[in-house]
Amino acid sequence: MRIIVLGSGGREHSIIWKLSLDKRVKEIISFGENYGISNLSKMISIDQSNLNKVVQKIISLKPDLVIVGPEEPLSNGIINILSQNNIKSFGPTKEAARIESSKVFSKKLMIENSIPTAFAEFFEDFNKAKKYCLTKGYENIVIKADGLAAGKGVFLPNSEKEMIKILDDLLIKNKLGKSGRSILIEDRIFGKEVSVFCFTDGTNYSKPIAICDYKRVFENELGPNTGGMGCYTPPEFWSEKLEKNILEKIIEPTINAMKEKKSTFKGMLYTGLMITDQGPKVIEYNCRFGDPECELIMPMFKGNILDTFIQVANSNLKESSVEWKNQKGVCVVICSEGYPEKYKKEIEISGIDRLEENIICFHSGTKIKNKKIVSNGGRVLVLANIDDSIKNCRDNIYSEIKKISFEKSFYRKDIALRALEND
Ligand code: AMP
Ligand code: GLY
Repeated sequence: MRIIVLGSGGREHSIIWKLSLDKRVKEIISFGENYGISNLSKMISIDQSNLNKVVQKIISLKPDLVIVGPEEPLSNGIINILSQNNIKSFGPTKEAARIESSKVFSKKLMIENSIPTAFAEFFEDFNKAKKYCLTKGYENIVIKADGLAAGKGVFLPNSEKEMIKILDDLLIKNKLGKSGRSILIEDRIFGKEVSVFCFTDGTNYSKPIAICDYKRVFENELGPNTGGMGCYTPPEFWSEKLEKNILEKIIEPTINAMKEKKSTFKGMLYTGLMITDQGPKVIEYNCRFGDPECELIMPMFKGNILDTFIQVANSNLKESSVEWKNQKGVCVVICSEGYPEKYKKEIEISGIDRLEENIICFHSGTKIKNKKIVSNGGRVLVLANIDDSIKNCRDNIYSEIKKISFEKSFYRKDIALRALEND
């Protein structure tokens, strides 16, 4: 089989790594630049932001299956175009991807279908939004831009002044462009956060995997939000009862509601939840694998994943095709100094070849320059480990991570620390 994987970060490296373990996969092709991926697939240099170019290239390569990693091509309709060209693909259509690309769409979906979520009002007018926020109080609200904002569209103001500045930036100065012209003002809710990942073909869905991630750049939840600094599975508070409740009250109604809206969702449904005193509530949906969550999903997946991708694409997902290892997993992201703001690139990396075999090293942003491995992004490497306890995973990663060195790199040292209590 010839498979194309779109995207060139750590998430896609992990998908390609998993596929490469399957003998039936004869050829994997990907686009862009990533040293880790280039060891497992043929990489074609192409501007991935140019949807037309990407589609033309894919069509010319006649793949048996295309797997789309990032949200942008999904929300721009790549699956629709591939399907018009009779190319089998894994991922939601443009209409279904609205579950992530429009927070107004997804909030309305939840309200109309009684899916538990935080109360919200919608605004486009600055004065009306300001009046509403002042009545509510800055500490009780979350401001969300409607559209995609690369993880930068959700604001939890720390003061009244900051709250008004956020509204001004979005609705008057249009700092997020089209994405922020329409906003949601949501009640702030409290509890334990967890992300739940389910494969779905639009009707059937798999057993989920639950993962907790760390969004803030520094330990003790300090510093700005990032794409994710690490994650672990399962959460210390996870139980069969909670899983059943989430599947019945949230996942299944979501999949059914999307189907009823003629926006059948096929692919990986990623639901961000807050487990509140009143039960689980949806914070957001994403229409794809998370990054770095995917770097745990792939190693935790039992057996070959190819059948699952094909079954989802063919709308005949069998529950038995998805089983998760009865183990625990931790992954830690190594970043360049300055991330998530400005950072340097092309810094030489050493030590990858000295890692123990049980550590899986996924590359988020690396390339080769003058025959040396160098950094090529803010998030550079992700070390993942699967073992019988969170303690072992942490010990394995944190003892090996010291072997990796590049100038001024950093990583969080507290990933999964809180899960040790119930290990
Ligand atoms: P998102 O980009 O939607 O994942 O949101 C970023 C973060 O904002 C989430 O991980 C939560 O920690 C927080 N958040 C989003 N919505 C709410 C809410 N309604 N109440 C409290 N925290 C929230
Ligand atoms: N790690 C969060 C995300 O992929 O959206």
